[in-house]
Amino acid sequence: TVRKLFLLPGDGIGPEAMNEVRKIISYMNSALSAGFETDEGLVGGCAYDAHGAAISEADMGKAMAADAVLFGAVGGPKWDGVDYDVRPEAGLLRLRKDLELFANLRPAICYPALAASSSLKPELVEGLDILIIRELTGGVYFGEPKTITDLGNGQKRAIDTQVYDTYEIERISAVAFELARTRRNAVCSMEKRNVMKSGVLWNQVVTALHKEKFSDVKLEHMLADAGGMQLVRAPKQFDVIVTDNLFGDMLSDVAAMLTGSLGMLPSASLGAPDGKTGKRKALYEPVHGSAPDIAGKGIANPIAMIASFAMCLRYSFAMVAEAEALEKAIANVLDKGIRTGDIMSEGCSQVGTVEMGDAILSE
Ligand code: NAI
Ligand code: MG
Repeated sequence: TVRKLFLLPGDGIGPEAMNEVRKIISYMNSALSAGFETDEGLVGGCAYDAHGAAISEADMGKAMAADAVLFGAVGGPKWDGVDYDVRPEAGLLRLRKDLELFANLRPAICYPALAASSSLKPELVEGLDILIIRELTGGVYFGEPKTITDLGNGQKRAIDTQVYDTYEIERISAVAFELARTRRNAVCSMEKRNVMKSGVLWNQVVTALHKEKFSDVKLEHMLADAGGMQLVRAPKQFDVIVTDNLFGDMLSDVAAMLTGSLGMLPSASLGAPDGKTGKRKALYEPVHGSAPDIAGKGIANPIAMIASFAMCLRYSFAMVAEAEALEKAIANVLDKGIRTGDIMSEGCSQVGTVEMGDAILSE
C-alpha cells in the first residue's frame, strides 16, 4: 500500500517539531515497509514570503490529494501586519474549509509520569484518556445573521445565530460513535436542550442515529454546563464526548488543561468519508502555535506533533498497533524522566527537541 502524507511544517517551531516526525516516518518505511510517500509544502508566514498567500493553490491541490495532512504551526511577529486575507492563520482556515474538516478531535491524555504536575489531583487524572469531538464548521461561529446594529437610542444590538441542520449533527455523531467503538465504546453527547432549540434537535438526531446504527455503543446525554462540571470533578468517567462548535471550543480547552503542557497536546480534524473509497480527508496538528519565543533554539517539545502523527496512524490508516506503540514510546520516555524544558520537573533530565525525538524513536 502507498500511504500519501502531505507535510506542512509552517513557521516557528513547526519545522523543528516536524523534523522529529519525519524521522519516525523514515524509520517506519525502512523497518516496517509502511509505504509512506511524503511530499512537502509551505503554509503560513513562510508561504506568504514565498508566494504572497498563506498557502499556494499548488499546495492546496496536494493537500486535497493526500491521504492525510500533517500540519506544524503558523504565525509569528514577522507577519503581524500583513493583510487579513493572507495572514498566516488564513492558510489553516482555507485547509479546514476546502477539506471540509467538520470534526475536530482533541484527546486529553494524562501520561502517568506527568500526573503529579497536573492542575488537578493526581488520582483524578492519572491514566486519563478521553476524546472530545467538537463540531468545527457550523454552529454559532458561522450562523447567519451575524450582525451588530445601531438601535438609534444609544444602544447597539449584537446578534450571533446558532444554526445546525440534521445532516451536520448526524455526521459529527457518526464520527463519535465510530471512534467510540475503537475505544471504550461510550459516547456522551453534550448540548443545552433545556434552553436551546439547537440543543433539542441535537439531542433528537444523536438519539435517532444511535438507535438506527450504533445501538451497541453506550450513549449518555448531559447538559453542557453540567458536563463542564463533571469534566473537572471526575474526568475519567468519560470516553468520547461529542458536542457543538461553541461548547466544544470551551470544553476541549478545559480538558486540555487537565493534562499539563501545551507541548503535549495533539489534535486531528476529519472530513466526510469519500463516497467511493470511504476514506476521510484529515489534518493532524499540535494544539500549540509557532512559539516564536523559543523558535530556533532547539528546545521545543516535539511530543504534541509526534502524538498528532500517532492519531494519523490510527484514524487515517487504521494502523492501531503502530499508533499504540508510538504512544507507549512517548509514555516510556516520560517514565524514564526525559523531559523538554516545558515539562521539566525535579530529578528529571532536560533534553532538546532532537534528543526527545531520538529517545522516542529508539524506544
Ligand atoms: P503558542 O502555542 O505558540 O505558545 C504559547 C506558549 O507555550 C509559549 O510560551 C511557547 O513557548 C509555549 N509552547 C508552545 N508550544 C510549545 C512546545 N511544543 N514546546 C515548548 N513550549 C511550547 O501560542 P502563542 O504564543 O499565543 O502564539 C504564537 C504564534 O502562534 C502566534 O502567531 C499565533 O497566532 C500562532 N498560533 C498558531 C496556531 C496554529 O498554527 N494552529 C495555534 C495557536 C497560535
Ligand atoms: Mg479554543
